[in-house]
Amino acid sequence: MKTVTIGNPGNVSYALREAMRTLKTNIKFSGDDVKVIMFTSAAPNEGKSSTTFNLARSLTESGKNVLIIDTDMRKSVMVARLQAATEDGTEILGLSHYLSGQQTIDDTTYRTDIENLYIMFAGPSVPNPTELLEKKYFSKLIKNARDCFDYVLVDTAPIGAAIDAAIVARHCDGTILVVAQDAEPSKSILAAKNQIEASGGKILGVVLNKVNMGKVGYGKYYGGYYGKYYGSYYGAEKEEHKKHFRLFGRRKKDPNAVKPRKEKKAKKVKAEKQ
Ligand SMILES: Nc1ncnc2c1ncn2[C@@H]1O[C@H](COP(=O)(O)OP(=O)(O)OP(=O)(O)O)[C@@H](O)[C@H]1O
Ligand SMILES: [Mg+2]
Repeated sequence: MKTVTIGNPGNVSYALREAMRTLKTNIKFSGDDVKVIMFTSAAPNEGKSSTTFNLARSLTESGKNVLIIDTDMRKSVMVARLQAATEDGTEILGLSHYLSGQQTIDDTTYRTDIENLYIMFAGPSVPNPTELLEKKYFSKLIKNARDCFDYVLVDTAPIGAAIDAAIVARHCDGTILVVAQDAEPSKSILAAKNQIEASGGKILGVVLNKVNMGKVGYGKYYGGYYGKYYGSYYGAEKEEHKKHFRLFGRRKKDPNAVKPRKEKKAKKVKAEKQ
C-alpha cells in the first residue's frame, strides 16, 4: 500500500471541532454495528465531501482507523482539494480503476500522512459509474474494508442528481444526509430520504451544514475558517422522533418574513379608516 501526503487538510476551527465531536458521539450511540457510513445530499455542493473528510479526521484523533471511499466517479474533487500526492510522484489510482478490474484494492487504497487515515479516491471520471457500482467488486470492497477498519466513510454524488448513492446505500450500515441550510426545499430532502429507504438504506441522521451563525445567535464572527458557517448534527434518535412529524425541527422564524404581512395589515386598516 502506498502513502499519499495531504497538502491541504483545511483548518479546523473550534466550532467545526465541536460539531464533529457531536457527530461522532451520535454515531457511536447509533450502535457498534454501524461502521460503514454513507454521506449524501439532495443537491450538489451541500458539504458531503467536507463533512466526510472532517469527520474522518476527527475519528482518527480518537484513535480509530478510518477509510474514506470517494464513490463520486462523476466529479471527484478530493485529490485536488486535499492536494494529495504520492511520495514518488506517480499517478493516484482510485475506485474507477478498481471497479473496472484494472487494479486491486491494495493498489487503489492509500495510507495518508494523517495517522490512521486511509483514502480510496474516486479515480478518473467514467461514463458509466452506476454500472460499475453495481458490480460484485464493490460489495467485495465494502466487505474487505469492514474487516480492516474501525470506520468506513463513503462519500457519494448527490442522490437528487444520480442513482449512484442509492446503490451505495444498500451496502452501508447507515446514511447521513447533509443538508445545507436554505439550500433545498424540504420536498427534495424528503424525496432523498425516501429514495435511500426505498433502496434498502437506513437514515442515521441529518447534518445541517452551512448554518448562518448570525441567524442562530452566536454572533457573526464565531467559527474561524468557516466564517459565519458551521456544521451541526441532529442525532438519529431525534430524527427518529421527528420522523412522524416532519423531517426537520421547527425553523427559526425569519423576522423579515413577518414584516411585510404586518405592513400589509396596517395598510388595510388604514384603507378601511379612510
Ligand atoms: N460548513 C461549511 N461552511 C462553509 N463552507 C463550507 C462548509 N461545508 C462545505 N463548505 C464549502 O462548500 C463547498 C462545497 O463543499 P463540498 O465539496 O464538501 O460539497 P459536496 O456536497 O461534496 O459537493 P458535490 O455535490 O459537488 O460533491 C466547498 O467549497 C466547501 O469548502
Ligand atoms: Mg463531494
